[in-house]
Amino acid sequence: MRVLSGIQPTGRFHWGNYFGAIRQYIQLQDEDEAYYFIANLHALTTVREASVLRQSTLDAAIDLLALGLDPNRATLFVQSDVPEVSELCWLLMTGAPLGLLERCHAYKDKKDKGLKADAGLFTYPVLMAADILAYDSDVVPVGADQVQHIEVARDLAGSFNHEFGQTFVLPKPKVLEESAKVPGTDGEKMSKSYGNTIEVFENPKEMRKKIMRIKTDSRPVEQPKEPGEDHLYQLFSLFAMPAEREQMAATYRRGGFGYGEVKKALAEQAEKFFAEPRARREELAAHPEKVREILADGAATARKKAGEVLLRAQKAAGVK
Ligand code: TRP
Repeated sequence: MRVLSGIQPTGRFHWGNYFGAIRQYIQLQDEDEAYYFIANLHALTTVREASVLRQSTLDAAIDLLALGLDPNRATLFVQSDVPEVSELCWLLMTGAPLGLLERCHAYKDKKDKGLKADAGLFTYPVLMAADILAYDSDVVPVGADQVQHIEVARDLAGSFNHEFGQTFVLPKPKVLEESAKVPGTDGEKMSKSYGNTIEVFENPKEMRKKIMRIKTDSRPVEQPKEPGEDHLYQLFSLFAMPAEREQMAATYRRGGFGYGEVKKALAEQAEKFFAEPRARREELAAHPEKVREILADGAATARKKAGEVLLRAQKAAGVK
């Protein structure tokens, strides 16, 4: 079984990215043949500064490796290092119904807001389909917001197979665990667009400051509280060991504690949790040539597979 997913390099990873996706990708590298790539071509639909995009692409690779993505167990590469995907994208584009793309939310949301959209955003799901189909991917782990795009990939693969004969494997989405929903500093879902994020590799002092500013309610200290409904407790649980979690839950139910203490405990846990990855990150960042080598190896593996699939599709369509 081949698992594949793409990650956009549109800023440094935050806790929501880690618990909601990255951690689960890393777990999958032990179970299946895993392909992960940094979707810099997709990022180009929003990031329009060359030096920023180049740096974020490298940063994303360093972060993933530091967090435990192991190049010996998974293939890690940069999307644009596999030009076969862009060629495959054209073959799929010729069979992609406008109506299908008009319904896709990335484009639709922008258009509904009266904003100008470009062809890149409109055809974003076709490039994503090419990403997936180029490697005969069986399973695509994604957040719930990306499931629509996997459906598009299935549709395009299905109609290509119907028109030209069996060519593509139909991929299945694997929706990442909802339990990993991570609240942000305001209690809403952690997301860059809400400005409520805490970055994984934030410097510890800055991280502490952000944690101390997490919004809490003004119920009196003595009042017992239900931990399950509290976003500060939810954050703490992500990092704490089961016994520590139990203890904190009991403290909540008892009452007589201040949110400030919970925040301090959270800061300590979070620092401890990311201490090893942080050290690994520093090591990797000091040797970017090693990271580039890993990405080049990954691209070579990916190109071999994508080349086979592209040739199969070109022959089927009569352009080879
Ligand atoms: N669109 C995805 C996101 O924003 C990233 C992505 C690009 C992707 N190509 C992909 C995900 C292929 C899975 C498979 O999260």
